[in-house]
Amino acid sequence: MKNGALWPDDNGVHINAHGGSILEFDGVRYWYGEHKTAGWDGRLAWVGVHVYSSADLEHWTDRGIALAVSDDPASPICRGQRIERPKVIFCRKTGKFVMYFHSADDSHARADMGVAVSDTPTGPFRFLYAERAEKGVWPLDAAPQDKDPRIIGRTPAWQDKHDAEWRFFLEKHGTLGRDLPDGQSVRDQTLFVDDDGKAYHIYASEDNSAMHIALLTDDYLRHSGKYVRVFRGRWQEAPILFKRDGVYYMMNSGCYGWLPCPAHGARAENIWGPWFEFENPCRGEDPVSGTGPETTFGCQGACAFSAGGRQYVMLDRWNMADFIDSRYVWLPVAFHSDGTFSVTWTAECRPEL
Ligand code: DGJ
Repeated sequence: MKNGALWPDDNGVHINAHGGSILEFDGVRYWYGEHKTAGWDGRLAWVGVHVYSSADLEHWTDRGIALAVSDDPASPICRGQRIERPKVIFCRKTGKFVMYFHSADDSHARADMGVAVSDTPTGPFRFLYAERAEKGVWPLDAAPQDKDPRIIGRTPAWQDKHDAEWRFFLEKHGTLGRDLPDGQSVRDQTLFVDDDGKAYHIYASEDNSAMHIALLTDDYLRHSGKYVRVFRGRWQEAPILFKRDGVYYMMNSGCYGWLPCPAHGARAENIWGPWFEFENPCRGEDPVSGTGPETTFGCQGACAFSAGGRQYVMLDRWNMADFIDSRYVWLPVAFHSDGTFSVTWTAECRPEL
């Protein structure tokens, strides 16, 4: 796989699975992602979530649309809404494949988690619901000031001008109390299944000023009501979470829409925190595109996957002028004795199984 080049599927067509995730099931890898269309209009969901399969992580077979958009204008997944960053996990307890995605309208006024389920990895997935998270539930780490009615009453609305004052308020207080009655917003998101089978939903919330980590129910279909807020006031998106030798790591982007920016690295001994942030984990330079760590090689994170005992990250190199032509970059992760990890540019990535 030549990073940043066209990646043809079994029909010779560039793989169309952006903001995606890779699931291993019964020795087969399934790659799910946003099916993008041409031009700027391609940012919206006109088709659905595409799925591909591979036995070797190199040759990918088009398995069609795992979750199709709806024709019903009342549906949250109606054609022309947003279905972003789809992630799929397998629930051993129920034998079902569960998909979470960011469900929104074009204006981003709606900020929901969308959930769909299937009996088979390739679908079709059945759409279950789209809603905000943790309605009426405070996080485990809520502080007394979060519940102070004077602060809640002064919290700016999402629609307010996103100016310096707005930013300052959110960095100091967040928006927990404001959103308690209707639920917390869910924007960029990912899923993580731990060694004990417990699954977590990690999502940008509080108008993108913080990240939340929520434990799912045993069937993975809902939030359990146990959650924490991390990276308060750090404005991070595109979360990627992986685990190595008992330690949890995250690689997140900054909050710049599809524009590339430096990545944030972090680690924690316990998924609930504390999380410790460290410097941008990216190293090296792509001589072809002239990009380096300051733009995450012109990319934004999509997901992490492991192969042959090694950890990799999948990144999207978005093309905002023509979304269908967005490219992929896979890079290996190196772990260091000081507790950090790094992601170094390599022109080609061929994960060994
Ligand atoms: C921010 C995300 O990080 C991007 O990848 C993209 O999903 C945009 N939001 C969409 O507005």
